[in-house]
Amino acid sequence: MKKSLLLIHGFPLDGSIWEQQVEGLSSIADVLAPDLRGFGQDHRPVPVAMAMDAYAADLKRLLDERGKDRVVLCGLSMGGYIALSFIAQWAERVSGLVLCNTRATADNAEGKLAREQTALDAHAHGAAVIARAMVPKVLSERTRRDHPEIATMVEAVMARQRPEAIAAASLGMALRPDRADMLPSIQVPTLIITGSEDRLMPLPTSETMHAAILGSQLVVFDGVAHLSNVEAPERFNSEVERFLDEC
Ligand code: MLT
Repeated sequence: MKKSLLLIHGFPLDGSIWEQQVEGLSSIADVLAPDLRGFGQDHRPVPVAMAMDAYAADLKRLLDERGKDRVVLCGLSMGGYIALSFIAQWAERVSGLVLCNTRATADNAEGKLAREQTALDAHAHGAAVIARAMVPKVLSERTRRDHPEIATMVEAVMARQRPEAIAAASLGMALRPDRADMLPSIQVPTLIITGSEDRLMPLPTSETMHAAILGSQLVVFDGVAHLSNVEAPERFNSEVERFLDEC
């Protein structure tokens, strides 16, 4: 029987950002790539701040509805925060964990203030302004130079998100607890993926998680920044395919 793989997107994106994983991995796994609450085609109302635990609870409901007892969780950046919230609450539902371009620590005071500003900007200026500012931060120089179509696609996905969903996620991230202490208790096979050029999650954040999670594997994609699944889809898919065998 195929394993189930739940892909959790980052901020401020939607499930379509996993298109190449759905395409490349569906022959070997039952792949789910939902839109988180308020993003993409998910039109549910969002609270002012959407806690990571609330996204995780939505995903747990989705798995219950689909009759999925156990899944491999794969979260990128904010998706990783949500994956850690999920495993903290429902470890028995997780057979493997892929943490991409993410961290286990909480925001510092300066980071929390920046989240509040992002939420205000989303409401005041709309998603397009946030998107334009974020693209240079999430894609490496090489990706933007050699694949301008990727930059165009990422900007378009960000620009079409609802400002209230962006604001709710931003404020929710500011509220997230520090989960560094729970890392040593993770018992499932864990793969950590990051990019050598990720300025939002510099390499030491991944190295720290790797050191704290017993038996975890760390893979660093050269020349790739924050969106490792989009910037290096073949490498990403082959790492996940190999890892699924171990889960
Ligand atoms: C993301 O890609 O989900 C965000 O960069 C996460 C964050 O801002 O902490």
